[in-house]
Amino acid sequence: MCGIVGYCGSKPASDILLEGLRRLEYRGYDSAGICVGTESGFRIIKRKGKIKDLKSIVPDKPFGVNGIGHTRWATHGGVTDENAHPHTDCSGKISIVHNGIIENYMQIKERLLAKGHIFKSETDTEVIAHLIEDLYAGDITLAVREAVNHIKGTYGIVVMHNDHKGTLVGARNGSPLILGVGENEMFIASDVNAMISYTKQVVYLEDGEIITITPDGYRISDLYDKKINKAVNEVDWEFESFEKGNFDHFMLKEIFEQKESVARGMLGRLNLDHATGHLGGLNMTSRELLSIERVIIVAAGTSYHAGLVAAYLIESVARIPAGAELASELRYRNPIIEKNALYFVVSQSGETADTLYAMRELKRKGAKVLGICNVVGSTIARETDGGVYIHSGPEIAVASTKAFTSQLTALYIFTLLIARMRNMSFEAGSDFVRQMQALPSIIDKALLKADEIKKLADKYSVAKDFLFLGRGINYPVALEGALKLKEISYIHAEGFSAAEIKHGPIALINEETPSLFLVPDDRLREKIISNMKEVKARRGKVIAITVEGDSEVAQIADDIITVPHVEEYMYPFVMIIPLQLFAYYTALKLGRDVDQPRNLAKSVTVE
Ligand code: G6P
Repeated sequence: MCGIVGYCGSKPASDILLEGLRRLEYRGYDSAGICVGTESGFRIIKRKGKIKDLKSIVPDKPFGVNGIGHTRWATHGGVTDENAHPHTDCSGKISIVHNGIIENYMQIKERLLAKGHIFKSETDTEVIAHLIEDLYAGDITLAVREAVNHIKGTYGIVVMHNDHKGTLVGARNGSPLILGVGENEMFIASDVNAMISYTKQVVYLEDGEIITITPDGYRISDLYDKKINKAVNEVDWEFESFEKGNFDHFMLKEIFEQKESVARGMLGRLNLDHATGHLGGLNMTSRELLSIERVIIVAAGTSYHAGLVAAYLIESVARIPAGAELASELRYRNPIIEKNALYFVVSQSGETADTLYAMRELKRKGAKVLGICNVVGSTIARETDGGVYIHSGPEIAVASTKAFTSQLTALYIFTLLIARMRNMSFEAGSDFVRQMQALPSIIDKALLKADEIKKLADKYSVAKDFLFLGRGINYPVALEGALKLKEISYIHAEGFSAAEIKHGPIALINEETPSLFLVPDDRLREKIISNMKEVKARRGKVIAITVEGDSEVAQIADDIITVPHVEEYMYPFVMIIPLQLFAYYTALKLGRDVDQPRNLAKSVTVE
């Protein structure tokens, strides 16, 4: 949610900032801007629209040696040129970019208005610029420190002052900020993507920390100016993974990457000799794992759907009561923490505010909380008691795809581990390991249906509403399929348990509202076939994602897409592939902005 980048060094800053913003654009993309320090003062260029729109008004010849940039996802104030960041104070000497929400900005603004400050935008961010101006007495770091002591809310900010050329000051509370350490140059950004092509040496800032950077050094301190020494970490993501390669969109690339990303998530984690799983980062002894009496998975969006699948699996296979909860709801529910309950927070970005705050609340209450994250060094990954990285590589498209199957991979391995400690036999464990090891090639086969799915998507793209129906472990997959379609095609889509349609949703069925059924060859197949017939009887169109060779389903449905046969619990990995492709091709047919759908952002760092 909002991307921030700052640079100081000797390279042309305007280029580095624009390139950094391009790589951060998935965080927010309604307006963007840069402020570049030049000999004659600040040069601020900003406008509503995407980075390409901003680029079109920035001079081709690169300029400046330091600066800050921002790509916005609006919270306070509409999407206008004036509300785009960077924002300045009255003197025009202070410039700031901000990610987050300042809760007490109205009180501060009133005070500053009374003192004669003149505001140019409706944003909460501009208030910080004026507050710093008010407090400034020659030391910009000190002024920023005093200012953040006055503000309530969440922020990741980077500030420049024209009298301190070559210096940037950053501060964070609740919104990520990462320092990139280069050779005689420094970067500061909300995400490593912005700097990965220049440096892999990073320092993760924590809440309550303030950093001052110059091309040849940095100083981190707390809110009382106590110096903090922090480790420099090396990021292991490759530069190429941030590019689209031969694909038209990041989303398509990421869908096709799943055969590799799922395999990567299993590397070194499945042990056929002992028929079990191994997850080094859990930081739990076998005794502690054995004493787990409940597993609760907390997440948002797609990660929540992965949690629902995993909860089903944990209960069925490991025979431990399990459930998944929406982080946004759990946080405000005052949950009861059972002594031997284990909590997982699942988050691709590791920065989702709802999930982060739920995790902190759980920890405050004494819960044992583990993380399942993709972004290494993200706030959730750092603050949990232990956890697992899913290693799916950078996910850039706003609609999450490969993270879902990688989250499942990690949670399935965890399930195997705890199931083997309980009721699962060696033979059953070996079977489970083999089934998992077969997944990458099965996903590869499911991907071969892309062209067929494209035709189907073209045919149904006229629909205004869609139902996605599944049962058992595939019910959350139906929810995820519906979420994908609405996110990127803007077609209204709802996911339900196929059994539930008779309790209400069937009222929506008519010739114009297609239903997409997930029909694996499992225990519930017959029941789902009955539900399909109920829809057909009401002249509803039926698409079935079914198993190769199922002629009965093929006869009932109007259209089918087949997937390879797998054992019951492995179906979510296979069923999700056609649903992701269906959403992608529908959005493509409708001419939508697939990677950056309207109103959405990838990393939602506000509540
Ligand atoms: C946003 C994204 C979704 C994502 C959700 C949770 O809403 O648009 O794609 O599933 O956040 O994100 P997380 O990073 O916590 O998995």
